[in-house]
Amino acid sequence: MSQNPKASPNLPWIPRLLMTFLAFLVDLTRRPNITVNRRLFNLFDFKAPASKKPNNGVATSDIKVDPSRNLWFRLYTPETHGGGGGACMPVVLYFHGGGFCYLAANSFSFDRYCRRLARELRAVIVSVNYRLAPEHRHPCQREDGVDVLKFIDETNIENLPAYANLKQCFIAGDSAGGNLAHQVTLGAIEKKFRKLKIVGLIAIQPLLGGEERTESEIRLQKSTLMPMHRTDWMWKAFLPQGSNRDHPATNIFGPNSVDISGLNFPATMVVVGGFDPLQDWQRRYYDGLKKSGKEAYLIEYPNCGHSFYVHTQIPESFLLIEEMKNFIGLQSAYQ
Ligand SMILES: *[C@@H]1O[C@H](CO)[C@@H](O)[C@H](O)[C@H]1NC(C)=O
Repeated sequence: MSQNPKASPNLPWIPRLLMTFLAFLVDLTRRPNITVNRRLFNLFDFKAPASKKPNNGVATSDIKVDPSRNLWFRLYTPETHGGGGGACMPVVLYFHGGGFCYLAANSFSFDRYCRRLARELRAVIVSVNYRLAPEHRHPCQREDGVDVLKFIDETNIENLPAYANLKQCFIAGDSAGGNLAHQVTLGAIEKKFRKLKIVGLIAIQPLLGGEERTESEIRLQKSTLMPMHRTDWMWKAFLPQGSNRDHPATNIFGPNSVDISGLNFPATMVVVGGFDPLQDWQRRYYDGLKKSGKEAYLIEYPNCGHSFYVHTQIPESFLLIEEMKNFIGLQSAYQ
């Protein structure tokens, strides 16, 4: 029998419609000269306000880090139903997806997703509103992430609950945010923190690449969200001008990569979907971590395409949250 020629999984109509619309909007607003029509995109990028009053069991507030570059984060704190006492909840620094160029910490879909993570993981979520490319290229996003970590380490944040355990800090992200989670973890290893300790990294379908065209990129060219013509454009917008896709921020274990085997790199969970064109790069990332002697876990969902996790209509999105819960519990137990 020949290999399944399908380019996308069978999806319920709501996720299918949302993915198709997002892809349409991205293509409508990204220009051939590598700029983004922000005004047009923002018309459709609906934002959710923060709510001090718990909504679905989670309160949110927006915390400014550096107004001069509009760096802030949205803090999600789950209700503790009275019991809360002691520093017992892990803290997850979260980087949203959007091809490095799109969406924000308060975009409707990510607000809903982070609220769900806070509630289900019983964790405090810090969703970073990092600067976007191409107006701000690599390594701005990595600097923003590390600066938020420093801010949390050094500042007494009024809204950070006493039950937030900074010694159990995880760095997580999806798609472009999964890539940034790796970059920020690397950046954080060089820093000395007083209160904060990074104990795990969760890379959900990280946006990775390289000059080479992999088998899955070619086979799944017709995927809704991540065909090569779109990811190539994202890399041109994100990387410093004049770089190619073998830049170490794209091809993490490629020809120009840094050797991480000597670094105190945390345990890492890599999430892969069987309909994601990026899956070959994501498996190489996992292999690279293992070869460097790091603790790594590969979680595969054969029937999932890119961005499945934000859609509650897709059952695997619930399985993934269970996996994240197990990973966080395991890493926290060893601290
Ligand atoms: C890119 O294209 C847009 C629309 O065609 C134009 O308004 C803008 O000035 C161009 N920007 C650059 C940097 O070339």
